[in-house]
Order: sequence, then structure tokens, then C-alpha cells
Amino acid sequence: MAPDSPRRCVTDLVHRPQILTCRELVAAGTLLTAAAYVPPAWGRLLSEKAAVGPGTFEDGVASGEPAPDAVTFWGRLTTERPRSGARLIVAEDDGLTKTVATVVVPTGRAIDGALKTRVTGLQPNRFYFYAWQSADGVSPTGRTKTAPVADSDVPLNLAYSSCQRYPTGFFNGHVEAAASPDLDLYLFLGDYTYEYGPESGARPEGAIPSLDLRSYRETNKLYRADPGLRELHRRHPSVHIWDDHEVADNYSENNPAPSELQRTAAYRASFEWMPRMVMPSDRFRIYRQTLLGRQAEVILLDQRQYRTGDGDGQPRRLLGDAQMEFFLGRLKGSQARWKIVANQVMIAPLKAAVVPVIADQWDGYPDDRKRVLDTIADARISDVVFLTGDIHTYMANQVLRNADNGAPIATEYIGGSITSEGLPDQSGLIATAVLAGNPWIKQFNGEAKGYATVGLTQEAAKVTYRVSDITRPGAPHSTLAAYTQPVGVNDFTRDAGAAAPVNAAAPAAPTGRAVRSAAAPTAALARRRRAYEKHVAQQLARLERTQGARKQAKR
Ligand SMILES: [Fe+2]
Repeated sequence: MAPDSPRRCVTDLVHRPQILTCRELVAAGTLLTAAAYVPPAWGRLLSEKAAVGPGTFEDGVASGEPAPDAVTFWGRLTTERPRSGARLIVAEDDGLTKTVATVVVPTGRAIDGALKTRVTGLQPNRFYFYAWQSADGVSPTGRTKTAPVADSDVPLNLAYSSCQRYPTGFFNGHVEAAASPDLDLYLFLGDYTYEYGPESGARPEGAIPSLDLRSYRETNKLYRADPGLRELHRRHPSVHIWDDHEVADNYSENNPAPSELQRTAAYRASFEWMPRMVMPSDRFRIYRQTLLGRQAEVILLDQRQYRTGDGDGQPRRLLGDAQMEFFLGRLKGSQARWKIVANQVMIAPLKAAVVPVIADQWDGYPDDRKRVLDTIADARISDVVFLTGDIHTYMANQVLRNADNGAPIATEYIGGSITSEGLPDQSGLIATAVLAGNPWIKQFNGEAKGYATVGLTQEAAKVTYRVSDITRPGAPHSTLAAYTQPVGVNDFTRDAGAAAPVNAAAPAAPTGRAVRSAAAPTAALARRRRAYEKHVAQQLARLERTQGARKQAKR
């Protein structure tokens, strides 16, 4: 590998002067390089001396885990070399001229070409732009945003989704979320990938049976080839919690359960593809918190990895002891107004003759749920909001003191699914039965597909459910329902007139250029939507060729 010397800088940069001059690079490198680091657990897998090598960036860019002074940056280098590296450039402007940091990050075959680093020393509540650079290539330019300072009451815009089964439909929700001019954080609440295959559906080519490191990596790569998902990652910082399908359906209950080897392979692939740093003390720990000023604390949970009691002779526990202590500690200790719980499975009870009790949810872990609800009620913790995935249904639930009775002490907003199948209920009989048997559930729609947005201020939280036809790429969205939750009330009202269709703006096709946030005129939006659809078609054609080549290779 060539050393990352100033001479090498000139060679690297001479063909792309729009990125950075060598002088700027060296100056910026001395500014903040020391503040960045690679995930500790990866260190032993990589070259001790990082250096920039040749390679291309075919999988987009991503950022996540925003703090007031830091962001985690992600990229992926495709190269023939077993060990190599790439340079991250972070700047204040979309032309990458006002550089604030450059970092050379090692990578290699052992981590599937993943590039990950956390840059500190940034300013709070600000947009930054970034790109990765190899010896002969440059990535698309991404945008990210740091978190507000701890005492900030600045309003926040969040969005979230779950359950993006690729073959089932198009990720239109991601297209619209990507187009948002200003998201402080996007939350992926699990089932980011599915292990099934082969499958039928709108995109049958998007299924790779996954059970080992190679196939989990292939699945992550395939999902990230979706232009909507890729664009969402390019334009907004995100966090991710996994659910079961990143490994296997309801895997803790399978008999036999997946081996440690399989779980490790799936967790490892997920870490390789996410802008999430490894915790030195616990290689696969994903439960943690993200602070967004005084306005909100996002508590990320893991409701799969530590489950016990499924025929293993142990008590039924959803979170495990250590995570439960962490969760209760964050609830009791949080200084933030809104305690946003990124939650995989439904915490409100679900009882109906037409729907069996789902033991996979908090319903199957009543002792754990009681402990959480008792803590919230006894400590008088207000403004706890559960954002939930898993069940492929839009719901808005009061969380009651004793689960199925008592006063509301928290709320739960279940955000449907990006594509995964819910409950077919064209007659509305299931919804009617569920609403009748569960008075704390105020909304039930198992058919609509999409995502949700969350606006947070000092006065209220506003949650909006956005849905579209996932059988058509780039289909416009409408609002299924919207809810307003005043601060201190722990309950919500449904906004009148929220069901009126609202056409959504589609983002530009990924071009590698920097993000523009100004609203575009209608004709331009139509052009951009056509460009997006063309891009989707090109992506699919490429995937078909890849799949064809894979089949040929297997013969
Ligand atoms: Fe799911």
C-alpha cells in the first residue's frame, strides 16, 4: 500500500481538484484527524498503518449517532486489495471547500470493505457535508447534522420506519423521507433486512436466503442498492435497532434456535453496514441513547439478543438484566423533555378473538412490562413516547398504568411497515374487533404502507403517518392520520382532516452531488420523479444481471 504522504496527496487529488487541494488536505488533517477513530473491535482485523488505496465506492454513504460535537461516518471501499484504506473529508459546505476534518480510515476484506469512523470537534446543530476518497475514486457527497447542545430547546424533526421486506414492494417511504429538507434523526426500528428467499412480489429479485456471513453481507448490500434507502442514508443521520429478521424470523423461539455462529454472522454484517460504532466493552451491544438537546433523549433498545425463557429453563425476560437496568436508569435519569423509546415490539396489550395473543411482543413478557410501567408511574416520569415497529400495522395507543387499565402514563405510535405484509382487512372487520376489544388502541390499520414523522417542541409532539402505494416506484404519499400530544399530558388527540391526500415531493435521483433543501417547483418535481423511476429501473436491471451472474457461477 502506498503511504498517505503529501506526495501521495498530490497524486490522489490532481484529477479531482473540486474536492480539496493538497494544502487544504494537510491543514485539515492536522486539525481533527487525531479526534477520529475506528471501531475498537475492528482494530486487530486491519492494517496498523492506514493508507489510501485504489478502489470505488459503489454502496453510497451514510452517517449516524449524532452528538453535539460528533458524528459517525460510513462508507464502503470496493477493492481487490485485502487491506487498504480511504480518506474521509468533512466540510461545512456542499462543495467541500471549507474543510473541517480529513481522516484516513483503514479497511479490508476482514470487514468487507466497510469504512467507519467517528469525527469529533464539530459544532452543534449544524449541517456538514462529506465524501470518501480513494486513490482513484470518490464517493457521492453526503450530508449530515450534529445534535443540539444539551440545554437546547430547539424544535426537532424525526422520522422512523421498520420492516422493509425488499421483494414485497418499493421503498417509497424512504424516497419521501430522504426528500425532507431537515431531519435531525431517522430511526430504523428493525427488520432492516429479511433473511427469506426466494420470494415472489413486486421485486422478487430482492431475496437472498441468509444464514451465514457471506449471505447476510450480500443481503445488506442488496438492500442498500435500493435508491430510496441509499438516498435516505446519504441525506440524513440515522440510528438503527435490529429486530428478528436481521437474523431469522422470531429466532429466539425457533426450535432449535439459530447457532451462535449464525447470530454472530448476522450481527457482524449489520455492524459492517451501519453508521454505528462498536462499544469497546460489548462487541454487539446496540442498546444505547442519543441525546438531542433538552428537547429529547432517544433510548435505543434491543429486544432480540437477550431474550430468555423460550424453553431454555430461564425466566421469561425480554431485555435481559443489564439492559433492563440501563433502560430504567435512562427513564429515571433523563433530563430531556421527551423520552423517545426506539422499541421493536408492541408494548400496549393486544387482545381480540380475531388476533391471537402474540407472545413475541411485550404481551409475552408481563413481568418485564409491569416493571417498566411501574417505574414510569411511580417515579412520575412524563412524556415517555414509544415508537414501535414489528407488527406491520399503524396504531396509536395509550399506554396505561396497569397495561390494560388505569390512567394513561405514556403513549405508543406504531409506524406500519415500509413494505412488509400486514393484516389484509379490506372489510375493516379486524380493525373493528381490535378497537372494540382494546379501548386503549385508538387507530388500527394493517394494510397501509409507509413511515412516520415526529415533530417535537416545548409544547407538543406531533406524529404523522405517511402512506403510499408500494407497488409503484415513486408513488405519491398521503397522510393516513396525525396525532398531537401536548407536553405533560401523556395522551393524544387525532388531528381533524389529517386523512386528506397530500402529494409528496420525491427527491432527486442520487447523483453524487450535494443536497439542496429548497422546495422545487412542480414541473421540476415531476422531472425528478421520472428520473427517480428511471434510476430504480436501472438499479433493478443491474441487480438482475448480478443475480444472473450469481446463478451462472453456481452452475
Ligand atoms: Fe417485520
